[in-house]
Amino acid sequence: MNHLPWRAAMERALYGPQGFFVREDSGPATHFRTSVHASPLFAGAVLRLTRWVDEALDRPEQLTVCDVGAGRGELLLALGAQARAVDPALADRLRLVAVERAARPEGLPAWIAWTDRIEAVPAGLLFANEWLDNVPCEIAETDDDGVPRYVLVDPATGAERLGEPLDAPDAAWLREWFPGALTEPAERAELGRERDRAWAEAVGAVGRGLAVAVDYAHTRADRPPFGTLTGYRVGRQVEPAPDGSCDLTAHVALDACLDAATRANPRVTHSLWTTQRAALHALGVNGARPPLALASSDPAGYVRALASAGEAAELTATGGLGSFLWGAQTVDIQAADSDDAGPLGGWQTLVS
Ligand SMILES: C[S@@+](CC[C@H](N)C(=O)[O-])C[C@H]1O[C@@H](n2cnc3c(N)ncnc32)[C@H](O)[C@@H]1O
Repeated sequence: MNHLPWRAAMERALYGPQGFFVREDSGPATHFRTSVHASPLFAGAVLRLTRWVDEALDRPEQLTVCDVGAGRGELLLALGAQARAVDPALADRLRLVAVERAARPEGLPAWIAWTDRIEAVPAGLLFANEWLDNVPCEIAETDDDGVPRYVLVDPATGAERLGEPLDAPDAAWLREWFPGALTEPAERAELGRERDRAWAEAVGAVGRGLAVAVDYAHTRADRPPFGTLTGYRVGRQVEPAPDGSCDLTAHVALDACLDAATRANPRVTHSLWTTQRAALHALGVNGARPPLALASSDPAGYVRALASAGEAAELTATGGLGSFLWGAQTVDIQAADSDDAGPLGGWQTLVS
């Protein structure tokens, strides 16, 4: 097998015939644990965000929640169930849409719509947890003369070699988003133009509301010098072999994605980012232990609260899920700079 550019190799390994994410025998949850799988508290936080968007939009007749890269629909299942329990009137107005390249799982309730491409979200929330890190990308590495070149890979063995120097658009992207990097031999970067394009298109689907991307990510202040591409298989981190046997993931240049969406969509009113830890704290998820007194007054309640505190701690752990970044873009709503910034208060504004 000939060597391929990494983007083509990832595309085939993840989404080609029998690709890692699209074959029927296993979903993402079989291989790694996202925040969605870690705890229903995550869906609860997304529901709180949904309710805030609903208010900012003056409670439209129909409010869409669109989950991009929905896995097997786990987030929308939990969100829909929680909405019925805490706010049935909102639940009646919710349209829940899963966007996923894998087929609709059998047995998924009819109240979740399933599509393989992003459709219009006239009013609502577009949410993408761990989607962009799986959007295939090119990888660049500096050769012995200090020239950044595409990295090519043999899909059968994972062996790499360097290919052509970067074309003009990728070289320009690298200069803009990794300034001063890839000057020393063996420095690497995952090139973000495909992720930028994907995110700009996603945000462009939102008529009014909020778009949020949550991912392993970096910004200009903390770019990794040697790349981040890695693999996951059945719970283990493995060498990133593009043979369909494992997940292939590379951290996202989140500021570049937000910037691309802002440039492409004049209706974007605010571009903000923060850590998952801060975002979830603002949405009421924190790992505080319940008061000890509860153990005697309500032992079962105490045990439940303790378990929930443990899950919240996992979702917000620095160095773990809590260090993921959340990027948020408001579309045609002004709430983020009013006194009522709600859960987006205190987030950092994107500096392009
Ligand atoms: C890491 S999984 C995340 C699943 C889920 N969001 C979660 O957090 O548990 C990434 C998912 O994104 C899906 N995906 C990747 N690119 C996509 C695209 N362009 N459109 C729809 N789904 C996509 C993959 O098939 C995979 O199921």
